[in-house]
Amino acid sequence: MNYHGVLQRYCHLSDLPDYSQTITLFEGNTPLIPAPRLAEELGGGFELFIKFEGLNPTGSFKDRGMTAAISEAVGREAKTVICASTGNTAASAAAYAARAGLKAVVLIPQGKVAAGKLAGAVAYGAQVLQIDGSFDDALAMVVEISERHPIALVNSINPYRIEGQKTAAFEICDTLKQAPDWLCLPVGNAGNISAYWAGFKAYHEHKFTGLPRILGVQAQGAAPLVLGHAVEQPETVATAIRIGRPARGEQALQAAEESRGQIIAASDESILAMQKRLAKEGLWVEPASAAGLAGLAKELQAGKINLQGKRVVVICTGHGLKDPDIITKAMAKPNTLPPKLEALEEIIIP
Ligand code: F0G
Repeated sequence: MNYHGVLQRYCHLSDLPDYSQTITLFEGNTPLIPAPRLAEELGGGFELFIKFEGLNPTGSFKDRGMTAAISEAVGREAKTVICASTGNTAASAAAYAARAGLKAVVLIPQGKVAAGKLAGAVAYGAQVLQIDGSFDDALAMVVEISERHPIALVNSINPYRIEGQKTAAFEICDTLKQAPDWLCLPVGNAGNISAYWAGFKAYHEHKFTGLPRILGVQAQGAAPLVLGHAVEQPETVATAIRIGRPARGEQALQAAEESRGQIIAASDESILAMQKRLAKEGLWVEPASAAGLAGLAKELQAGKINLQGKRVVVICTGHGLKDPDIITKAMAKPNTLPPKLEALEEIIIP
């Protein structure tokens, strides 16, 4: 086997302590999928690639950071890990903790976590606790408890999460042989945008691959980095990024500025429309994952971005299977037919 998981593949570039013990589910190595038809629809004249991070072992990009955070935690003999989560971090922490034989405790905002994420956390054996509050409330609680007790915090405040997540930038540069001109992605707690920027900078130092401009996209009802202040009651259909006080907000703003990019907001309607459009490419992503492209489309329509001759990579962070309800709630009930060929013919043969 020549592929091991992101820590082994990029060990020369991941800054993990020597005492770490690798725990992997063979995450990473996700495809970079060309989408020429979609690029044409958005105005054309540029190359568009989708990096589908929903194809990681637990269905989201979180696995890249979690292999690192859990490997470090095991190395220092932690027995319990904890995180606050809108769902994906919870499922990922639960899976990697299970693989390492650790206990995982996950705090989620009550009633706001998509079914596939909650089910994942439970299936992998985590202790799941609902907080009658927001993700931001839950995060404040886990930060404090991990300071008081020997419990390892595996939210993206943990620097090893960022180390692991940087590998997505390395993969993009390895596939394209250079950095893209633009990178677009959704922003919630702002760990991922910080990790990509750090990753592109590290790879450029190492291999002169260049640097992208970064377009970070928040949901309109949860856009503290666009508004310039915390949002006390964030609301969006993209529950993964329903966050009002991003832990790495300053770093995200710095990444946007340094890269000569921007952080903008996209409406829930535009996010859901882009989720549908991506499905026409055969890519079913969860709503938050469509936010990056929804934001890019908005900038193109407003004439605020010129992509002529450029190469753009859009990150789709999580799989559509994570949030089946968003589709099934809105769909028409399938027709029920008698088990007769004529009935089928009548319906499908023009
Ligand atoms: N996309 C998805 C599918 C996510 O689950 C998240 C974050 C993001 C984007 C934003 O990434 O927080 O690094 O800016 N989900 C976290 C969680 C908050 O708990 O699963 P970010």
